[in-house]
Amino acid sequence: MPDKKPVIPPLDISVVPDISSIKTPSKEERAELIARIKKLLKERDAVIVAHYYTDADLQMIAEETGGYVSDSLDMARFGHEHKASTLIVAGVRFMGETAKILNPEKRVLMPTLQATCSLDLSCPAKEFSDYCDQHPDRTVVVYANTSAAVKARADWVVTSSIAVKLIEHLKQKGEKILWAPDKHLGSYIQKVTQADMLLWQGSCIVHEAFRAKALADLKAMHPEAAVLVHPESPEDVIKLADVVGSTTQLINAARDLDNPTLIVATDNGIFYKMKQVAPDKKILEAPTVGEGATCVSCAHCPWMAINTLQNLADVLENMDNEIFVDEDIRKQAHRSTLRMLEFSETINTESVD
Ligand code: 13P
Ligand code: SF4
Repeated sequence: MPDKKPVIPPLDISVVPDISSIKTPSKEERAELIARIKKLLKERDAVIVAHYYTDADLQMIAEETGGYVSDSLDMARFGHEHKASTLIVAGVRFMGETAKILNPEKRVLMPTLQATCSLDLSCPAKEFSDYCDQHPDRTVVVYANTSAAVKARADWVVTSSIAVKLIEHLKQKGEKILWAPDKHLGSYIQKVTQADMLLWQGSCIVHEAFRAKALADLKAMHPEAAVLVHPESPEDVIKLADVVGSTTQLINAARDLDNPTLIVATDNGIFYKMKQVAPDKKILEAPTVGEGATCVSCAHCPWMAINTLQNLADVLENMDNEIFVDEDIRKQAHRSTLRMLEFSETINTESVD
């Protein structure tokens, strides 16, 4: 019987937050919020673990207070190793859940519990589990951008920084793969490794909006530029890349490449860190279809954007918005998630190959 692709429901656009309604604090409000957050972090024995796509102020506070800003793999690592009793995860829900899966003894709070991810939404646990049941001969590898229940069903969890290496490793052992949820990342890995992979058909609404034709035109206008692409982007965009990698790997490339200009196909929140590590380079956004067309939130993740100074201060004040994971699910998800950290220790995750 031929393997059928899973059929997944289209994303309900009404669940995507409207970021135009987010209020920017005045200069005075901003200073007051930053001072309050720094004071509360000490009082609460809390540390911030933030993703590069969050607001620049949140990244700045995390770094100035002994916290951490990174890609999803290193966020998991840092939270696992840090001694603070409370982790404040500024990012999206799967990042908070990953922290809880790895650290059940710690309190894990998030500035907002509404921050989800289109990949996570595309992969409901029941439908995914049924699909796995139809393919018992395959090793189940899921991207970290999934719920705890989906991680519990998986043999391995992986992030974009180590996905190619893990699949190469499994291929060498003769394993066939069931991959979920990102079809673009899955097909990129499949091309690089030539592994036998069945792909769930989810996608990231931010990366899917990058457009190859417009990117090729921009590249032609800047022949001196290097193109840096996150592998959640469509195949024709990845084809134009000089470097494909996780957010940390793209930042390292921005720092290390000799090119004076960089065209970047990932969420523009990453520019805060890229400008720090490559202050003399010109950094351009890769084109999306543009306002008024079909990109839902052009080059900026709407769920990352709802992490604000105000709700960060509020969560520290009230110590609410706690992440809980059912203990049976957590134990099963712990196995596949810890495996990811252990595998990452055996390889160099700094570079892209
Ligand atoms: P990274 O692991 O590369 O940070 O990616 C996480 C993510 O959600 C990208 O959209
Ligand atoms: Fe999910 Fe895409 Fe947002 Fe990353 S950028 S958290 S993959 S919706």
